[in-house]
Amino acid sequence: QANRLSFDVKPNAHPMDEASRLKAFENLGFGTLFSDHMAVVRWSADKGWHGAEITARAPFPIDPASSVLHYAQEIFEGMKAYRTADGRAVLFRPEENARRFNDSARRMAMPELPEADFLAAVEALVRIDAKWIPEGEGSLYLRPFMFASETFLGVRPSKEYIFCVIASPVGPYFKGGAKPVKIWVSETYTRAAAGGTGAAKCGGNYAASLVAQSEAAAQGCDQVVFLDAAEHRWIEELGGMNVFFVMQDGSITTPPLGGTILPGITRKSLVALAREEGFTVNEERYSFDQWKADVESGKVTEAFACGTAAVVAGIGTVKHSGGEFRIGNGETGPVTGKLREALVGIQRGTREDRHHWVRAI
Ligand code: COI
Repeated sequence: QANRLSFDVKPNAHPMDEASRLKAFENLGFGTLFSDHMAVVRWSADKGWHGAEITARAPFPIDPASSVLHYAQEIFEGMKAYRTADGRAVLFRPEENARRFNDSARRMAMPELPEADFLAAVEALVRIDAKWIPEGEGSLYLRPFMFASETFLGVRPSKEYIFCVIASPVGPYFKGGAKPVKIWVSETYTRAAAGGTGAAKCGGNYAASLVAQSEAAAQGCDQVVFLDAAEHRWIEELGGMNVFFVMQDGSITTPPLGGTILPGITRKSLVALAREEGFTVNEERYSFDQWKADVESGKVTEAFACGTAAVVAGIGTVKHSGGEFRIGNGETGPVTGKLREALVGIQRGTREDRHHWVRAI
């Protein structure tokens, strides 16, 4: 057993007062409001991980030659703390985030943070900022991330890194709330190629998706859907979410993980829940042309996007260069609704947690 990090706790001397916090909770969107504290741990080639602390959330002084600013050595995670109906603060499958964070770290030639230390940082932050977990439908979005902080312009892995966790109380990710989303099929841009960084949760993947996302917005859509880079044929994922297709015969299809798709924890959980509900889940390639034909013939009855931030969002309309089509009646379908309920029920403690996915803090 390696030595665990111990976090030096320095409480924020000027936390937001309760009235302002509750006021700010009244109209929660996504990612604009932040809690009082952050967790920080530093890494250097000579000292390894050190300087673990919980401190007031504040800007980092950053040298203009800091390598992250030039070569984008940066990774992150997305997870949430929930307030259950009986008042507990819980995390959902946080070990999965810790593991994926290290998978991303290896791909980006960054040091791995022991899973126990990742979890300790997240839990210490949630504990000190527990009052920042909104009641009801909101949650406290947690954003662990790590970036290269060495002052050096040479192109090689940095010898210094900062790991940090911040927390943001959130409501719905999409402005329309629970309304089904409209998506745009990008034929111009791709997200990831074999051997690239598609399976890593690195900032660069999201930077590369923005222009495609803007194209989607210009088309009046909420999200972009990417096709594979080799054949521009197979459906991969949305700008920041995985995608599922519900078939009339009771089966469900989702693109397989194969190095170009982000291995979503919500995706993995929904695959398991759908199988328990009696659906056959096929993790197999599905082409855009087939999707279009299957919607037209009635074989596909629903489609949905999923992710930590977006949870489960029905896809109502699909727009592409040749026109657009509606899925079912354009509303969130019953299977999508049922799977969403099953997932959210476990997260909120209103459903039996058979898999022990929920971890109380
Ligand atoms: C998440 O779902 O947590 C993500 O990291 C994706 C991003 C679109 C917010």
